[in-house]
Amino acid sequence: MKYLSSFKTKNLSGKICLLRADFNIENAELSGKNIHPRIAAILLAIEFLTKKGAKVVILSHRGRPAARINVDKTPIDTDKKISENLRNGLRKSALSLKPFAKILSKLLKKPVDFIDSVAKLEFTTSQVVKLRNKIKSAPCGNIFLLENLRFNPGEDKNDVKFTKKLASLGDFYVNEAFAFCHRPAASIIGIPKLLPSFAGFSLENEIKNLSKVIASPKKPFIVILGGVKVADKVGLIENFWDKADKFLIGGGIANTFLAARGEKVGNSVYEKEKIAFCKKLLKFSKIILPVDLMVKNGRILDIGVKTQKNYAEIIKKAKTIIWNGPMGYIEDKGLRKGSEAVLRAILKSKAFGVIGGGETTSLLQASSFKLQANVFVSTGGGAMLEFLAGKKLPGIEALNK
Ligand code: 3PG
Repeated sequence: MKYLSSFKTKNLSGKICLLRADFNIENAELSGKNIHPRIAAILLAIEFLTKKGAKVVILSHRGRPAARINVDKTPIDTDKKISENLRNGLRKSALSLKPFAKILSKLLKKPVDFIDSVAKLEFTTSQVVKLRNKIKSAPCGNIFLLENLRFNPGEDKNDVKFTKKLASLGDFYVNEAFAFCHRPAASIIGIPKLLPSFAGFSLENEIKNLSKVIASPKKPFIVILGGVKVADKVGLIENFWDKADKFLIGGGIANTFLAARGEKVGNSVYEKEKIAFCKKLLKFSKIILPVDLMVKNGRILDIGVKTQKNYAEIIKKAKTIIWNGPMGYIEDKGLRKGSEAVLRAILKSKAFGVIGGGETTSLLQASSFKLQANVFVSTGGGAMLEFLAGKKLPGIEALNK
């Protein structure tokens, strides 16, 4: 794999870089105290490239505007239906990337030119030529942001024609979108076949830190799992079952474990189809469940105070920690105590910690906690889980070729 960090060319005057970002971020997450990690992830590369005289064209998707997606993340709509969805106005302005031009411009102290022609379903050859000329004739160091690539069905389908049109806009490609590397989309696996391609600084960091936790975790090694679905974490649990000393469980997935132990979970969310899997794991003492819970209207919504203390004690002694998924329903500010207690304990500990998952990172972003050097925050949700489950991510594989 070629890395941007080992890029030797000093002068990139006039060269055009297609930079893949992951701005799949909800509006509410954009108003946090800290810069969102997925936005922060591309800033260094932009500064590096523009200082060398390159022009940068940022590519990203946001949300799922075209197709309803199945649990296994495959589109369940037909091609005809996808086009119909887009034409019928499912291309919601709420999923536009336009607000990001303003945010980036403020952070980079430079104008960021927003381009929406890629979002036109047709994205005709004449539109592509016009856009290419516009970028080519712009001064060195200019920055462009294209509209949500998923507004065009070619992105998710890795359509050859769409890929060629995108690739024709640039001279080389940099991937800073670790969080989207598990999706075989045009701008992830298609473009690297056509242009010289590099892993960006943040992608390199993700690979380095997540690989470290897989290859050489110091003991005691604990894995903290929350969020809604056991099904999403099966791969990670299996990959670390022998290596980890303890699995601390919270969030909706704790409900499934509690139900598997025969306890009543009232109206709480849990997965019936994962009861058998949880029962098998419960035979081992490395699964640690909450001893008290925050319950409201018959629903379990957070871990309780005793559990927070228990978990903090275990975290204190750990040398390696993985945390994915919140301990409670953190969308509600009053139900963040469990997750905040876990976060506080990790930041206080001396362990090497890897934190990830969309909700977990947005908690960090919304809070006033100061990150420590021993903690790595992954920008990945599904991508982090797949990487830690030992799977090969298509976006990383594409850069290896
Ligand atoms: C993410 O936010 O995890 C990625 O951008 C993937 O998004 P998707 O699940 O809609 O493909």
